[in-house]
Amino acid sequence: PHTAIIVVAAGSGTRLAGGAPKAFVGIDARSILRHALDGVFAAQPMQVIVVAPAGFEGQAESDLLAAAGERADLGRVVTGGATRQESVSAGLAALWGDIDTVLVHDAARALTPTAVIDAVADSVDGVAGVLPMLPVVDTLKKVDGDMIVAAIDRAELAAAQTPQGFPRGALEAAYEDAREAGVEYTDDAALFAAAGHAVRRIAGSERGFKITTQADLERARHLLTASAP
Ligand code: CTP
Ligand code: MG
Repeated sequence: PHTAIIVVAAGSGTRLAGGAPKAFVGIDARSILRHALDGVFAAQPMQVIVVAPAGFEGQAESDLLAAAGERADLGRVVTGGATRQESVSAGLAALWGDIDTVLVHDAARALTPTAVIDAVADSVDGVAGVLPMLPVVDTLKKVDGDMIVAAIDRAELAAAQTPQGFPRGALEAAYEDAREAGVEYTDDAALFAAAGHAVRRIAGSERGFKITTQADLERARHLLTASAP
């Protein structure tokens, strides 16, 4: 394949406080990482780089092998860094072979539908990045301290999900720019856009939410129970 997906799973999960690094907290019998990888390996064949917390590479390897089935040769585990950006960099450095398209995916978005992963992979051209997004449903205000200073038209806003897809060369150059400038970005699309590149949006999914808190974990558990055969 000419496409790779970097699944970042090296965070500690401070807000979830699940007793283990977030990627290894169970949703059901399967971990958050395992569910994320089940979705990835159900998509079109692509190289899969799992970025694990230091000391948890073996556990990540187990989840990778279990999810990969006959595609085990497409997968590899590397060690992450102190920030998400460093973890993505470690993933980029581990790419091998003839890869021209790179997706970056949060393991924490464990229930992301395979259709979204395929749609992102199929939408990357040689130039622009691709970002799955959902409409914003909340009424939003701009605030200053405890004062509301402006209303925000939510029609102008959308919420970003992952995987985010990019042409490899431009993404690597953008990561190098960010490293040299010492700037930390909130997501890969922001880092890519800061390097002067266009990013297009496609439709995300309600199931692509990020498991951040215990309430999110409960939501994931409920969705799995509700969709069980
Ligand atoms: N991530 C990573 N390396 C880091 C920090 C985050 O690979 N140093 C990954 C996480 O594993 C997660 C994704 O980036 O899949 C999104 O990050 P987040 O949801 O913030 O996860 P954590 O940083 O683990 O959680 P928290 O911020 O609550 O500690
Ligand atoms: Mg975090």
